[in-house]
Amino acid sequence: MYTLPPLPYAYDALEPYIDEATMRLHHLKHHQTYVDKLNAALEPYPELQNKKLEELLKNLETVPEAIRNAVRNHGGGHWNHSFFWQILAPASNQGSTLGDKGRTLTEEIKKQFKDSALACFGSGWTWLVKKSDGSLLVTNTPNQDTPISSGQVPILGLDLWEHAYYLKYQNRRAEYVDSFFKLLYPL
Ligand SMILES: [Fe+2]
Repeated sequence: MYTLPPLPYAYDALEPYIDEATMRLHHLKHHQTYVDKLNAALEPYPELQNKKLEELLKNLETVPEAIRNAVRNHGGGHWNHSFFWQILAPASNQGSTLGDKGRTLTEEIKKQFKDSALACFGSGWTWLVKKSDGSLLVTNTPNQDTPISSGQVPILGLDLWEHAYYLKYQNRRAEYVDSFFKLLYPL
């Protein structure tokens, strides 16, 4: 069964860009709920419990119809959040966790990414992905849909659900996007 992965840093490590209260709620409540609901969906299907989550999300059409939406939503939520925590670098550690990702993040791609994040309607994510032909693409997904279900390899992903930023930023999504860039590498 799936478990909530610990954050790779303290809850207050992303201050002042992402506040401790948001991180606690986001990780301990929202992410935990995706994990719990994914486990509940898979409970009657022991043969699926041995598969990797990536395998299920890349082949959603093979998941039994009765739980396909649950795996898509809660499995996607678990995968997306686990990825999101990993790409954020604590203020004290900026630049050291990004590796090759920093080199792909040109001003042009940052502009595309921000425009895409501001245009995301409803709850969803903005992504920088590598497509199967190796080219880069900035794209949005609704809800907890994950690019790996479309055969894309995520490089960056930004959670645009209000639970990710509303406590601190309210409706100021542009500021939240700017803060996200600051957590990736020093500007
Ligand atoms: Fe979230």
